[in-house]
Amino acid sequence: MNNLFDLTGKVVVVTGSGRGLGQAIAVGLGHAGASVVVCSRTIAEAEATAAEIAAGGSPSLAVQVDTGDRASCERLIAITVDRFGKLDVMVNNAGIDIIEPAEDVSPDSWDQVLNVNLTGYFNCSQLAARQMIAQGSGGSIINNSSIAGRVGIAGLSAYAAAKGGVDQLTKVQAVEWAPRGIRVNAFAPGYFENVMSGATEEHRRPDKRSQVLAFTPMGRRGLPEELVGPVVFLASDASSYVTGVVLYVDGGYTAQ
Ligand SMILES: NC(=O)c1ccc[n+]([C@@H]2O[C@H](COP(=O)([O-])OP(=O)(O)OC[C@H]3O[C@@H](n4cnc5c(N)ncnc54)[C@H](O)[C@@H]3O)[C@@H](O)[C@H]2O)c1
Repeated sequence: MNNLFDLTGKVVVVTGSGRGLGQAIAVGLGHAGASVVVCSRTIAEAEATAAEIAAGGSPSLAVQVDTGDRASCERLIAITVDRFGKLDVMVNNAGIDIIEPAEDVSPDSWDQVLNVNLTGYFNCSQLAARQMIAQGSGGSIINNSSIAGRVGIAGLSAYAAAKGGVDQLTKVQAVEWAPRGIRVNAFAPGYFENVMSGATEEHRRPDKRSQVLAFTPMGRRGLPEELVGPVVFLASDASSYVTGVVLYVDGGYTAQ
């Protein structure tokens, strides 16, 4: 049977996939049949995710990477091609959050957040696209953005600026690389059960927790596994005529 969502034979890289949303995405892509390169700054967490994927029957590889470091990204793509012979799908997911009032954002935290959340996406997208162009096979680049790229959320000036940049990077690259057969899309999560480390304190506050539920029409946070369907869709032939979109996966948050 022709399965539009089947990723058997596809080689995918998921950055920041040692834990959290990236981990769920990497495992889900493995279930869809892909060979998965798991990578993060912490090699131990990447190895644990890669072992889980291998136990599920799909080939996997753990690589240490700092996506904010260009040379490290070059090494990631080279290792992927060395091990699996090609690259079909690049999922940019590695991200950090630093929550600060706008008037207190330091140049250092601004640089850190922009470097990982925007420059890191640029590094991996460009290097992945060069590989896909050299292969002549096309491919799919998928960026994990955020509702913060579209709506104003207090405390997130650097993070939101980076995510808004990711949305625009997605659209420009989609336009430029469409003739090369490379599709570039983003998905934008709302509030998920996996709270990023910078936001942990804030999300302990009962008023923040009830605000999230009140502002989310579906009345609950997303589960990391609920990103698997959207990412498999964007990675696979099921989305063969879709490029340059930002797919909101937010329980209706941005529909209001
Ligand atoms: N959790 C949410 O509710 C939520 C909502 C919207 C968007 N997002 C986005 O989802 C992505 C993942 O977030 P998460 O909640 O899973 O966070 P997390 O902190 O649980 O996991 C982040 C992962 O990225 C890795 N990482 C961080 N910096 C890196 C770097 N420079 N190089 C390589 N790896 C690096 C970490 O090691 C970890 O594996 C981020 O881009 C985030 O902006 C999360």
